[in-house]
Amino acid sequence: MSKAIRWLSLIVLGLFASSYALAEETATLQPQQWQTIQEHAISGDIPEIRGLPTQPELLMPASIPQQADESLLGYLGATDTIAFALFASLFGVTALFILFVVVNGVSKLDHGFSGKLIKRWSGLSVSVHWLGAIPCILLILTGLVLGGGRFYFEPGMNAGSWSALVGLSSSLHELMAFPFILGYVLMVLMWAPKQFPASYDLKWFAVLGGYINFGKKQHPDAGFANAGEKLWFWVFALFGGVMVVSGLAMMFPETYGVTKNTANLMLVLHIASTVIISAFSVVHIFMATVMSEGGMSNMTSGYCDENWAKQHHNLWFADLKKAGKV
Ligand code: HEM
Repeated sequence: MSKAIRWLSLIVLGLFASSYALAEETATLQPQQWQTIQEHAISGDIPEIRGLPTQPELLMPASIPQQADESLLGYLGATDTIAFALFASLFGVTALFILFVVVNGVSKLDHGFSGKLIKRWSGLSVSVHWLGAIPCILLILTGLVLGGGRFYFEPGMNAGSWSALVGLSSSLHELMAFPFILGYVLMVLMWAPKQFPASYDLKWFAVLGGYINFGKKQHPDAGFANAGEKLWFWVFALFGGVMVVSGLAMMFPETYGVTKNTANLMLVLHIASTVIISAFSVVHIFMATVMSEGGMSNMTSGYCDENWAKQHHNLWFADLKKAGKV
């Protein structure tokens, strides 16, 4: 536990230090980030989402004699739809979840807290979770400013504040990519063995994990991870991977020999994956913090209450009992 707190403190201090350095940098802003982008060929030009151009016609650098794919440009040109999808994936899903909690209520422990704690996640796992999760949240928020802020934030701000917000978001977005990638790779490699589907997962989905408070109370079978967590894990592994690959391709086009069409395709995939990851992240965060009583301590201390384990992960608890670990 103390190890996890030490790691977490280091990560958080690092994040604060880097954001402070970036805040200093905003003194030298690039005004084209928030103005309508001018169109002219620039050597090595690749598309950037900064401010999203109103005329998304991307001219080819002379070194790459290739026509930009019109359909990809069409997708990127739908800037208002992109902005709406990004906002809906965050605020729309949040609103739906709040409505669900108001109507349905949260999931309480049937027998309250037993006071007996069970080790669920190692200190390393807790640290790796936050190494990926904190940058992921910052990437989603800064991505929202870059991809949709022109429609939803800029109209209510003066030019200087908007320019500062975009400059800071853009730098933070690039900076946070690196701890996110590290957290992503470690989470996927370390946790994949616990996330393989099992036959009882279908039943879990059929009764929505037993989280519905109307009708007969159900507690479907679940191993270490329940079916909902497994779905989140694999969505994160797949679309997080798309975000990482597409992001690296756009950040280092020369290193990876990325053409303009490939960069456009990467941007489309990056945005689509963001919408999916944002929506799932909102649900995941609500499940952990609001919906499941006793669930949050798993990712703070690494321990859960015995009654929480019995109620939500009965097969895992049975295995621990058989092995004499509880
Ligand atoms: C405030 C934000 C967040 C909170 C409070 C939170 C909380 C938690 C908790 C409590 C668990 C353990 C669940 C269990 O033991 O059954 C967990 C697991 C997990 N979290 Fe988060 N999380 C947050 C953000 C994120 C983000 C942004 C990501 C994506 C980068 C993420 C990825 C995961 C994954 C992949 C798991 C493993 C799924 C499983 O097997 O349970 N989390 N989180």
